[in-house]
Amino acid sequence: MSKITELIKVAIPSVGEEEIEAVAEVLRSGRYVQGPKVKEFEEKFADYIGTEHAIATNSGTAALHIAQAAAGIGPGDEVIVPALTFFSTITSVIHNNAIPIFADIDTEIYCLDPEDIEKKITKKTKAIIPVHLYGHPAEMDQIIEIAQTHNLLVIEDAAQAHGAQYKGQKVGSIGDTGCWSFYATKNMTTGEGGMITTDDSNIAEKAGRIRSHGMTSRDDHAVIGYNYRMNEIAAAIGLIQLSKLDRLNQIRTRNSMYLLKNLESVDWLETAKIKPYVKHAFFWCPARVNEEKLGMKTKDLVATLRERGVEVRHRYVAPLYKQPMLINQNVYPKKCPFSCPFYGKEIDYSGFKCANAEKIAGKMIGLPNHPKLRREELDTVISTIKNV
Ligand SMILES: Cc1ncc(COP(=O)(O)O)c(C=O)c1O
Repeated sequence: MSKITELIKVAIPSVGEEEIEAVAEVLRSGRYVQGPKVKEFEEKFADYIGTEHAIATNSGTAALHIAQAAAGIGPGDEVIVPALTFFSTITSVIHNNAIPIFADIDTEIYCLDPEDIEKKITKKTKAIIPVHLYGHPAEMDQIIEIAQTHNLLVIEDAAQAHGAQYKGQKVGSIGDTGCWSFYATKNMTTGEGGMITTDDSNIAEKAGRIRSHGMTSRDDHAVIGYNYRMNEIAAAIGLIQLSKLDRLNQIRTRNSMYLLKNLESVDWLETAKIKPYVKHAFFWCPARVNEEKLGMKTKDLVATLRERGVEVRHRYVAPLYKQPMLINQNVYPKKCPFSCPFYGKEIDYSGFKCANAEKIAGKMIGLPNHPKLRREELDTVISTIKNV
């Protein structure tokens, strides 16, 4: 057995010679933007998720931005988001001049709590963005039911859940749209990149236009747009990664289950709960630290593990409504969208309090579970944690 001396990294992109060869092929071809590789990647990704359409973008944030724009979300609209997620779930709302409204999360799967969603609905509510956090699907049956009752859109933020399933259906195909990120450490990567999946032809057509300067033809710009296009190099990597995704997810799952099973006896660590009707994508192998039982703050635990050779993730450290951008309303000039006359209400984010998010924030760690880990490295992670 080889001696492990290097830091055990929490995430490493799983790319190899095939991706390198695919990139070289594109570079040799001379066609770099919005060409055959992007088209093929969109078709194969839609096919994999089980939707009619897929629209490739250059990031997950861009996908969230234009999925909402294409669905008509704009000034004066409220969009319900989880209090604990990556920040761009909510900046994408503000980029559309709409207002993020925070609902609490569940204490077992860390996704939107349907009961709290209902409490946050007003006449202004236009959409719900469930995030399949850490790779565990949100409670989609209840969320879809609430959305149907109140005539709301559902935009799935599936940026952490490639290949996850809810009651046999792939996430990203359940709501009106699914939004994906292919950032370097995700279950599959294109370096940077994103995708929107949808069955709605109207949304797909609009999103495609908004992604590329609002163009309808070479010289005609019908609507406001952006340059959010994916390039051919990214799409070529994405195609190879997509073909490996199920196998990589299997290894992630095997690694995660091995860690969770072997850490069950650690009384200060509450390991992830997995609902019996989901397929977890294990973007993270999540565990919650009980700081009282451990006698140490989570951030000190993270530093200690690192000193002893094990890197872990530690996010998100506070509910998002506490971010200075929201508290101080440091957004667009003249405080748009919060001052928008279409909104006609005042919002004060210091008034939000989501009890579960407050309790959980800062206490979640993600254990190394990426597909390149060897069994002896997993054993080192386990013994290092047990020895803290
Ligand atoms: C839940 C969630 N939403 C959105 C994004 C944004 O994706 P990107 O970094 O590709 O813009 C991320 C990325 O980390 C994410 O984790």
